[in-house]
Amino acid sequence: CGIVGYVGSATPSERPLDVVLEGLRRLEYRGYDSAGVALVVPGEALATAKKAGKLVNLVEEIAAHPLPTATAAIGHTRWATHGGPTDANAHPHVSGRLAVIHNGIVENFAPLKAELLASGVEFLSETDTEVVAHLLAREYDEVKDLTAAMAAVARRLHGTFTLLAVHADVPDTVVGARHDSPLVVGLGDGENFLGSDVAAFIGSTRRALELGQDQVATITPTSVTVTDLEGTPVEAKPYTVDWDTTAAEKGGFRSFMEKEIHDQPKAVADTLLGRMDVSGRLVLDELRIDESVLRAVDKIVVVACGTAAYAGHVAKYAIEHWCRIPVEVELAHEFRYRDPVVNERTLVVAVSQSGETMDTLMAVRHASEQGATTLAIVNTHGSTIPRESDAVLYTHAGPEIAVASTKAFLSQITAAYLLGLYLAQLRGNKFPDEIAATLADLREMPGKIQQVLDRAERVREVARWMADSPAVLFLGRHVGFPVALEGALKLKELAYIHAEGFAAGELKHGPIALIEPGQPVFVIVPSPRGRDSLHSKVVSNIQEIRARGARTLVVAEDGDEAVVPYADEVFRVPQTSTLLAPLLTVVPLQIFASELANAKGLDVDQPRNLAKSVTVE
Ligand code: G6P
Repeated sequence: CGIVGYVGSATPSERPLDVVLEGLRRLEYRGYDSAGVALVVPGEALATAKKAGKLVNLVEEIAAHPLPTATAAIGHTRWATHGGPTDANAHPHVSGRLAVIHNGIVENFAPLKAELLASGVEFLSETDTEVVAHLLAREYDEVKDLTAAMAAVARRLHGTFTLLAVHADVPDTVVGARHDSPLVVGLGDGENFLGSDVAAFIGSTRRALELGQDQVATITPTSVTVTDLEGTPVEAKPYTVDWDTTAAEKGGFRSFMEKEIHDQPKAVADTLLGRMDVSGRLVLDELRIDESVLRAVDKIVVVACGTAAYAGHVAKYAIEHWCRIPVEVELAHEFRYRDPVVNERTLVVAVSQSGETMDTLMAVRHASEQGATTLAIVNTHGSTIPRESDAVLYTHAGPEIAVASTKAFLSQITAAYLLGLYLAQLRGNKFPDEIAATLADLREMPGKIQQVLDRAERVREVARWMADSPAVLFLGRHVGFPVALEGALKLKELAYIHAEGFAAGELKHGPIALIEPGQPVFVIVPSPRGRDSLHSKVVSNIQEIRARGARTLVVAEDGDEAVVPYADEVFRVPQTSTLLAPLLTVVPLQIFASELANAKGLDVDQPRNLAKSVTVE
């Protein structure tokens, strides 16, 4: 869910509502099942509006029934957990003169609700959040201090939460609390902000404060105070956001996703920036891990979810080859709830765009408890996963707004490769020439990605023709296998088409039964200049499916003529080494999914049922 809080001057104005709606617009990628706001009007009861569906429904509702001017406001955009996406279940939840918004899950809501019901409280929604509203209103009535009431209630909650509350008695105050869920403070001039992330207030300020676990923040127009849940004041770390609103706008593209696909050359270039010295050696001083610890690592486990996990799959091929360290890649939620073999010599690498994915965070905590060293590859500064990891390697992709990940994926592969090359360098490099050549090739990747983008018109045409396809298959071998998985995921997420990725070698063990005349199959072909057996095996796979009537859509490098006789379409990418090819071959698949979803009239940036940061397990 997305959360915004604002408090301005003592005179009521339009600004609180404007700021909160703008913040919600920028945060809508975090969830869009419903949206709502609560405004504080001095001397009066709170004014609220909430609506199921996307933010536009709320905006229309407010246009039809204007809200009063205010001094403070909170706003919420929801990804439903408890209770379906209805008007009643939308946040804020109100109890008397108090309103609350919440991101997360209150796991002990049932006994708390029973307690409130027994004391005669009536519930208007099915949400766990309404329990918090009633508890907080009751506590406030007793202690008459919203900050103390918030801390007291937060101490009673189990699960995960970011909470914001306003009370009509204190029209110049918004109070927030966090436990395992994100919250940052934005610092303005005569006004202050709270948000799930800096996008909430980036239109107004770039100065922010990072909040720690189990902290309560109280903002007024002229002050920000932070305490722990016992009420003891704590120092919050200030930082400046290194991007501005233009980075969070569409810049002339039809969707954020299209823009982000076109940002990819820069995302990769920025992720490489400053990490190599003039002689081409990697310098990763930012890793705060002792070199002796990294030298002793005998196993790497990559934990991640969704697209980030596929970036991990790609990296496994490269890191094992360069470093000769076994690498496992595991979905974070599976890793967490089995009994993985992890110890002091294991390096657990958590890959995450948001740095907030709860499944991944839990895997990091579990790994730390087992004594492993943890390293985060994350895009969002100030997020929780890097804070709880021993080290962090940031991917400098800039803000990614579209729910389906694109530029984060390329920058995750880039960062993971830098890590692999760095480990190889540190541990006595067995292939110095290959590693030097790879670093040189990496520097050329932004230009090559740009070439793929410049030639993408044919992919778009084919995507538009194929808008009615009921199913699409993707085949790849070696690093092309996770690329196939990612291509299929993009199509599922965006176009709601049944899509599957397979290891090309597995074809004959089952999936080939799916091939019937006209079945579209993407095939990601490795370079013919790499290990030749790899290339020729994939070309044989294309022949096998073509012979059974498949429509073959082949992604192959420039100059690879061997695929031509068996391809219905060839999408070309520039030549590069086998291991770097995913940075190129995935791009036509991203464009294909985005264009096809567009052709079907779907919302490319906000596909149904999904959210960008899933901050619940
Ligand atoms: C969600 C998003 C995916 C993303 C995954 C992991 O499911 O819809 O696009 O790949 O989370 O997110 P992360 O922020 O950890 O990379």
